[in-house]
Amino acid sequence: SKTDHQLLVIFGASGDLTARKLVPALFNLYVARQLPENFAVLGVSRSPMSDEEFRDRVVEKSPYLEKRLDDLREDYIKRFSSRFFYEDVGGSYEDSYGPLKERIDRINVQMGTRGNYIFYLSTPPVLYKTIAAKLAEQDLNKQVEGWRRLIVEKPFGYSLDSAKELNQGLQQYFNEKQIYRIDHYLGKETVQNLLVTRFSNSIFEPLWNRNYIHHVEITNAEQVGVEKRGGYYDKSGAVRDMFQNHLLQIVSLVVMEPPISNRPEDIRNEKVKALKSLRVMKSEEELHQNTIRGQYVASEVDGVKVKGYREEEGVDPISTTETYAAIKFYVDNWRWEGVPFYVRTAKRMPTKVTEVVIHFKTPHHQIFKDVGMDNKDNKLIIRIQPNEGMMIKFGVKVPGQGFKVERANLDFYYSSLAETYVMQAYERLLLDAMQGDATLYARADEVEAAWEFVDPILGYWKKGANVRMYGYAAGVWGPEHADELIEGLGYWRNPGEH
Ligand code: BG6
Repeated sequence: SKTDHQLLVIFGASGDLTARKLVPALFNLYVARQLPENFAVLGVSRSPMSDEEFRDRVVEKSPYLEKRLDDLREDYIKRFSSRFFYEDVGGSYEDSYGPLKERIDRINVQMGTRGNYIFYLSTPPVLYKTIAAKLAEQDLNKQVEGWRRLIVEKPFGYSLDSAKELNQGLQQYFNEKQIYRIDHYLGKETVQNLLVTRFSNSIFEPLWNRNYIHHVEITNAEQVGVEKRGGYYDKSGAVRDMFQNHLLQIVSLVVMEPPISNRPEDIRNEKVKALKSLRVMKSEEELHQNTIRGQYVASEVDGVKVKGYREEEGVDPISTTETYAAIKFYVDNWRWEGVPFYVRTAKRMPTKVTEVVIHFKTPHHQIFKDVGMDNKDNKLIIRIQPNEGMMIKFGVKVPGQGFKVERANLDFYYSSLAETYVMQAYERLLLDAMQGDATLYARADEVEAAWEFVDPILGYWKKGANVRMYGYAAGVWGPEHADELIEGLGYWRNPGEH
């Protein structure tokens, strides 16, 4: 395979992400024979743990692998878990990494990983720069005998300034080409399919512009609340947690111009251009008219009492952090001038769903008058999740006398490609980084362009008292007031409906 022998060093290995996402992804890659022959994982954290304990924790007794392990032979599982090692870096990440370097060297020889190292940072982001500096102190950033890559988890900064500072901090020690900023939405099949839909068909792209598209609507809804992450979430909120990264990534794929090839830099150049063309809202009036924030309040869903956001553990009882955000904006370029984009994201919605809806304009001259409100426009609905797939809504004649028009659906489900194994986001992204393909990773300028758009919104909301925070009951589609945002169109599409 084209995957070099290599060692994956995970910082923050005792955390949730390693056990919940990374190891299961590696395990699936192992089962699918996608890992290189000489492959090892070194977990790094602050507290001491033996290799055995680490193997038990993330592999052999992992609650996240339980079901899969049951079906496999013991020696097979052992062979996988024997590739895992653990080393602590003392009580903080700030002591010398000399001992860590020695351990890496030893594992490298023992496992034959040829000096190819990926450093995966899944610690709190305040530590990213320190870790990069400490690695550099030991020359672990230098690509002499093998290559060196750095993967960083979100959040990439808290604001435009802090994102710039973080980028500069990392770039002091690693080249941009060595840095992989992970956004797991880019690992989703259906997100990637946006590119294929647009640029491998001749039936969409000619219509993909202001002449034919009336507006674009993107919904990202989660049924869960903030779960056990109240402490993190309260400092973050829906815009930082979802919109700045995942949703603007989706937006950039919808908005971008055709790239000249599918090489990483060609695609990423177009995405940056797209993000830079989002109209940054400047005046308070604009911000007031085009943004809505909300918070879920205590309520009852299907007879079960659900806590309000402010009662969640780790959340300030007078918190002004949003769990719902709806934002309307325009894209200032040749293709999109005048086409409104409506994007919303929230926790505690009726269901978990992410979809992109392209609403086409109605025909200029309508000869069939008997068309219901719902049936007026053509829609292309891209279901990111669940029920991954695409649907086109178009008008058909109702059989019988006269010309009554009704909507019919052309519907495609990924699941109907039954033979295909659909990789999970982390599997795909890890494998890409292992092979040195950065197409699905965010570049520094992309991240900064996204912050540039988001910063004024957060700045405006921070003013607090002047900006309303709408409450909404868990299990409804957010504050009613959000309908006014989409005024003139009447309503948001009820996601998931046919
Ligand atoms: C994460 C956010 O990045 O994405 C979470 O921090 C959110 O708050 C999650 O729940 C949603 O991911 P997915 O893949 O379940 O849509």
